Amino acid sequence: METLSGHWDKIFRKTADHKLGWYENDFSQTLKFLNRIRGWKQARIFMPGAGTSGLIGELMQTNATLVLNDLSPEAIALAKKKYGGKKENLRWLCLDISEPLPEELHNTIDIWVDRAVLHFLVEDSKVEKYFKNVHTLVKPGGHVILAEFSKKGATKCAGLNVRRYNVEDLKNNMVAFELIAEEEYIYTNPGGEPRPYIYTLFQKRST
Ligand SMILES: C[S@@+](CC[C@H](N)C(=O)[O-])C[C@H]1O[C@@H](n2cnc3c(N)ncnc32)[C@H](O)[C@@H]1O
Repeated sequence: METLSGHWDKIFRKTADHKLGWYENDFSQTLKFLNRIRGWKQARIFMPGAGTSGLIGELMQTNATLVLNDLSPEAIALAKKKYGGKKENLRWLCLDISEPLPEELHNTIDIWVDRAVLHFLVEDSKVEKYFKNVHTLVKPGGHVILAEFSKKGATKCAGLNVRRYNVEDLKNNMVAFELIAEEEYIYTNPGGEPRPYIYTLFQKRST
């Protein structure tokens, strides 16, 4: 039986970047949210499912330290080829974001940036573990951007079922965080189809 990482590997192997169903070359929506965070260009930023996103290249133009994770070794290999080796402050990880992350990462992240990763976790137990990771990795005062399919969004992506979110669902899971900003956003995929997202920015309480 195909593993989940094998499923993603296959997609990345056979699909040109610009044809991926989540491809974007305009990062202004994420940058708009990042720009609300003071000092983000010097922060330590974690991407739980970085894929081959051009956002990596965009963030590499700043002084941020990047911790780039993905379940798919193929995605990491492609992203490394595109971006790797160009920046000292770059670290690659190949871990399942719905499993507990290594202790050495705990309390080390200033900003967690998730675009289109969390919504692929459909089982409650995996979702719980994801949010536990958010809570253990992000420092007090740190921020989290969650950009996921909204309730008006598609029910499948990349051949997988997704779990869709509204702000309340996200708030209920972000118990140690304050909601700072929220916005509905329609992404248009390479096939011209609208994909409604909910973008949120949270800040972890300091105590
Ligand atoms: C729709 S893509 C989004 C990629 C990137 N965030 C972007 O915006 O271009 C989802 C990514 O999450 C990764 N992924 C899926 N499930 C994962 C998991 N359980 N742990 C870590 N990464 C995962 C996939 O390999 C893929 O690269």
